[in-house]
Amino acid sequence: MKAKHIISIKDLSVDDIEEIFDLAKKLKAEGKFARAESLKGKTLGLIFQKPSLRTKVSFAVAMAQLGGTAIYLAPEEVKLGEREAIKDVARTLSRYLDGIMARTFKHEDIVELAEYSQVPIINGLSDFSHPCQALSDLFTVKEKKGTLKGLKLAFVGDGNNVCNSLLMASARLGVDVAVAVPKGYEPEKEVVKTALDFAAVNGSKVIVCSDPEKAVAGADVIYTDVWTSMGQEKERAKRLKAFKGFQINSKLCSKANRDYIIMHCLPAHRGEEITDECMESKHSIVFDQAENRLHVEKAILLLLLK
Ligand code: CP
Ligand code: NVA
Repeated sequence: MKAKHIISIKDLSVDDIEEIFDLAKKLKAEGKFARAESLKGKTLGLIFQKPSLRTKVSFAVAMAQLGGTAIYLAPEEVKLGEREAIKDVARTLSRYLDGIMARTFKHEDIVELAEYSQVPIINGLSDFSHPCQALSDLFTVKEKKGTLKGLKLAFVGDGNNVCNSLLMASARLGVDVAVAVPKGYEPEKEVVKTALDFAAVNGSKVIVCSDPEKAVAGADVIYTDVWTSMGQEKERAKRLKAFKGFQINSKLCSKANRDYIIMHCLPAHRGEEITDECMESKHSIVFDQAENRLHVEKAILLLLLK
């Protein structure tokens, strides 16, 4: 893999992504004890400024299964950029660790870590993006559907970090993508531009609209994420109003292709962005999706740290 860090989907070539997917598929098939010595003696730091279930556990388990160690660094102990400068944290940790996964508020903090770090930096979610999620998601779609090219993915909800990464990754890999968001909650302009550029290479489509039915019409994949992301809790009441009509429910899903799948990065707020019925339906693959975080992250760690 050419990439030295995983900061944004934009920096990954199609070859990089395919290498990750091919290795993840092998690792999943081999099972958890197959490469137990691969990262022996290696240590990954896990810096978190926000809560996590999947990201924390999947990266820690990935390191354990590959023979390495993970160290969890809680928000209150590192106080990234507060207790000491980010560039000092990056250079200090580079003397101890073999890689750093960071979950931050500001995306620029992850970029700065990468600028000063001597070891690979992995973005475990910022306010701008969630690349490991998008990679695992498209790996999961490929696993379920056998192919990516020619599929239509509809993202309905908030044009947030998860949407930004998914939009770029889908367009990069030739998936038609339709995003439906309320006005004022669109994905980042630069992300849409990047996605359009990627889609032009593939001959695929990128649409951003505010009509969930238009987005879901003929879709193979229906994806949503919370309306109120971590750090936006004060906006919750305003957002609940703005996102009315953008819920994934059985009426909306009836517009999709017959064998559609429902995806959600989790955690889900049942009754808000998705109904309980849709979460539990036979179309929902949310826990396979969550499982694949582990396999894809094992591949990323092997490619970056070995
Ligand atoms: N999907 C995801 O990143 O979940 P966590 O916030 O629990 O890590
Ligand atoms: N958009 C959500 C994703 C959580 C995995 C958030 O940032 O809180």
